[in-house]
Amino acid sequence: MEVIIKRTPAEGCRLAARLAATLIHRKPNAVLGLSAGKTPLPLYAELIRLHREEGLDFRQVTTFNLDEYLGLGPNDPRSYHFHMRETLFKHINIPASQIHIPDGLTRDVPRACKEYDEAILAAGGIDLQILGIGRDGHIGFNEPTSSLSSHTRIKTLTQETIHANNRSFPSHNEMPLHVITMGVGTIREAGCCILLAFGEAKARAVSKMVEGPITALVPASILQLHPHAIAIFDKAASRRLSLTPYYQHAYKNKPSWQRYE
Ligand code: F6R
Repeated sequence: MEVIIKRTPAEGCRLAARLAATLIHRKPNAVLGLSAGKTPLPLYAELIRLHREEGLDFRQVTTFNLDEYLGLGPNDPRSYHFHMRETLFKHINIPASQIHIPDGLTRDVPRACKEYDEAILAAGGIDLQILGIGRDGHIGFNEPTSSLSSHTRIKTLTQETIHANNRSFPSHNEMPLHVITMGVGTIREAGCCILLAFGEAKARAVSKMVEGPITALVPASILQLHPHAIAIFDKAASRRLSLTPYYQHAYKNKPSWQRYE
């Protein structure tokens, strides 16, 4: 796993946006895996800026979001459908038919999950997957003990995640307990994964993911086995890492042909 430590979330997200834009320039019909939540918001703001000011073209891009709350429809302001539309999709020129997010209102969850995985395969697989990380080490909503080879399916949120993610919900009781999420196996199949983590609250999960054992107790640790995983942190999130001087040294001394910036 490549570890890159930036001074601020804004700097980290600018780098992630540059990597996404480079992919889209090289492959205009790229397939992006996207994450909701707070972490990638500056990344989406930068992609919108690149679209408006530098003509970054999303006409042929296809997207698959990681997850959605069960029971919430696309127009519910608490849903990830709504969140993604407001923070990214309505500001860029991606056709609606190329946007995919699990259906939180499906009446047949197993079937919807199977069809979601089939749609990813039919699109040619995910080229670049954007990830955040939960305080308990989840990626997507693959909570601790998730199968490390799982595909899209229903999961039950932990109390910790319910607590951390209830910003848009007036009370804990209204937060759905269940979600549809891509599996750890689905995420592993992406050509490249970029995981973003910012802030002190993520420091413990970050150190377990990067420097701990690979374990289903920390689903993000599976990225240690990914051939092309890039983790971008700010200083606060990297605070508990023990090999920071090495990560910084390696990034500073990348051969010119491997540099991102
Ligand atoms: C969201 C997702 C989650 C979040 C994680 C961190 O689609 O899959 O894994 O990335 O819960 O959330 P934030 O970024 O809000 O701290």
